[in-house]
Amino acid sequence: MTPAEQSLKAAEVCSAAPVVPVIQIEDAAQAHGLATALVAGGLPALEVTLRTDAALDAISAMADVEGGIVGAGTLLTPTDVKAAKAAGATFGVSPGATDALIKAAEDEELPLLPGAVTASEVMNLLERGYTVQKFFPAEAAGGIPMLKGFSSPLPQVRFCPTGGISLSNARNYLALPNTICVGGSWVVPKDAVANGDWDRITKLAREATQLAA
Ligand code: 3PG
Repeated sequence: MTPAEQSLKAAEVCSAAPVVPVIQIEDAAQAHGLATALVAGGLPALEVTLRTDAALDAISAMADVEGGIVGAGTLLTPTDVKAAKAAGATFGVSPGATDALIKAAEDEELPLLPGAVTASEVMNLLERGYTVQKFFPAEAAGGIPMLKGFSSPLPQVRFCPTGGISLSNARNYLALPNTICVGGSWVVPKDAVANGDWDRITKLAREATQLAA
């Protein structure tokens, strides 16, 4: 798969719903219920961050949830990419981008949403064929004005801003012409996951789907 093809796949993932939940999960036993709750609420694309020991098992457990599109986030190294792919992730997300990481994602044919935050980073990724990128950490890095600033000189790049996004500011991001979706952890509060409060998660997911309206 060429980087441009990878980026098209990442665009498909981002187009599935206005919000990609950013999941940090401590217990893989919760994974299936959590993914089912999010998909039921209308958020099929799920990013499980590789920040916990349970993350890879969680990805495997989520992979058979009907309608789900399960990816791995916080990919930092080629080892992460291989492990994510082996666990069943169908896309990857990284906070930034390195040559080694990009090469690994291409070698493993794992569609990648690579992170960028400056015009040069965006241009470097674009040069390699990545027309869909994660803008991270969105709020800290300049938020909506920054994305607006990119839209004139770099209209061919679309973003998934992530980091500091919530129900209160997501709509303003989604109104930008170069924002394809947003990523956020607000739809998966830690206590709701720990308590298996799937009704609350489904309600939050449903609320998030309304952002596109
Ligand atoms: C993260 O790295 O944790 C993600 O960007 C999610 O950020 P958020 O918790 O601000 O939504």
